[in-house]
Amino acid sequence: MKNYNIAIDGPAGAGKSTIAKNIAKKLQYIYVDTGAMYRAMALSMMRQGISTENEEAVSKACSLIKITIEYIDGLQQVKLNGENVTAFIRDEEVGKNASVVARYNTVRKKMVELQQSLASSSNVIMDGRDIGTVVLPSADLKIFLTASSKTRAFRRWKELEEKGILSNIDDIEADIINRDRQDMNREISPLRQAEDAVLVDSSNLTIDEVIDKIILLFKEKC
Ligand code: C5P
Repeated sequence: MKNYNIAIDGPAGAGKSTIAKNIAKKLQYIYVDTGAMYRAMALSMMRQGISTENEEAVSKACSLIKITIEYIDGLQQVKLNGENVTAFIRDEEVGKNASVVARYNTVRKKMVELQQSLASSSNVIMDGRDIGTVVLPSADLKIFLTASSKTRAFRRWKELEEKGILSNIDDIEADIINRDRQDMNREISPLRQAEDAVLVDSSNLTIDEVIDKIILLFKEKC
């Protein structure tokens, strides 16, 4: 039986994971958060005291690390050498370091293999930066989800505020712009819209509107 794959790419903070998680639930697909894998890799380097700027050391350590994915109640769990690190990968520092290790060929090769193997055995909705271009070039539906950097910074600021964390919206926007620049300008698998991807700008849409739009596109195509 054919597996269906939906690819969602886009810059940091565009709402990819919230949207993809919701669609996965509605369609009863598996949601694969590929950013979490790069984050787990970065966390491992940080814990080992390896500078993520040192490509040789990162590549060497990467070959010894085992990253696996499991699901508990439909929620993705990332394991680093058997330890569930899902709760430790969300902070900004890990995100920044993930964006650095994601530049390296050895790291990307390992992550892409894992992602492709997950998609080969199930219906998946996968989000990231290179899903439509590299990981699942034959995906049944490709979405490039974006929003203005101001909107993305505001959403992040609000999310932090709801957790009781005070932050500066301009600093958040600067970080977002910097991370996008890094992701779009790297040599291997840069962030870009696949030629056959549908562009969805969520700046003026609610989460439900984006979800409905993508589900409609999927039903039209598949
Ligand atoms: O999406 P998230 O913010 O969790 O991703 C963290 C970082 O991992 C991104 O900034 C990007 O550099 C990298 N990444 C990537 N390719 C993916 C997913 C994430 O390069 N498919």
